[in-house]
Amino acid sequence: MASAVFGPATFCAVTGGSRGLGRSIAVLLAGRLGHGSRLVLTGRSLQGLQETKRQVKEKCRKELEVKLVTGDMEDSTAYHAHFCDIFADAKQGDFNSALMIHNAATTGDATKKASEHSDPQILTKYYDTNLTSVIALTSKFMKVC
Ligand SMILES: NC(=O)c1ccc[n+]([C@@H]2O[C@H](COP(=O)([O-])OP(=O)(O)OC[C@H]3O[C@@H](n4cnc5c(N)ncnc54)[C@H](OP(=O)(O)O)[C@@H]3O)[C@@H](O)[C@H]2O)c1
Repeated sequence: MASAVFGPATFCAVTGGSRGLGRSIAVLLAGRLGHGSRLVLTGRSLQGLQETKRQVKEKCRKELEVKLVTGDMEDSTAYHAHFCDIFADAKQGDFNSALMIHNAATTGDATKKASEHSDPQILTKYYDTNLTSVIALTSKFMKVC
């Protein structure tokens, strides 16, 4: 059995936990989180998040709070509400340690040539997802945890 390397009562959030690498990280990490820990998984697909939760619960038989938060990192106007959901009920001192894994990202439209990347709205969404959300979420994480 894996040891609780992150100790008891760890707050752990994994963005992009609805599939791929994020799902694998969540399932592997779950077995390493000690008693009283909370695992928060984010993504746009609730169905994908629910499947990850199912796999986490299957792998990790011990009691672990798994919270699912849907939201779109392309939409920076929704960050405030989205990030509040991620850290809802989490106050400084509630957890002994905290871990934030920024995994959600997009490669964008890789079929386009450099000369075709001309739409500023698409570029803004790309940078909001891959850069702005990471900085803003880290800031919130550092304030709360
Ligand atoms: N696979 C590779 O070979 C590789 C190589 C280098 C780097 N990476 C990076 O590693 C990370 C994971 O890779 P992966 O292959 O597992 O990618 P993936 O299968 O495309 O999964 C990306 C995850 O990010 C979430 N996500 C994407 N756009 C989002 C948005 N606008 N808002 C909220 N969540 C969003 C997706 O969830 P929803 O669709 O549910 O929103 C999904 O859970 C990515 O950051 C990727 O760029 C991967």
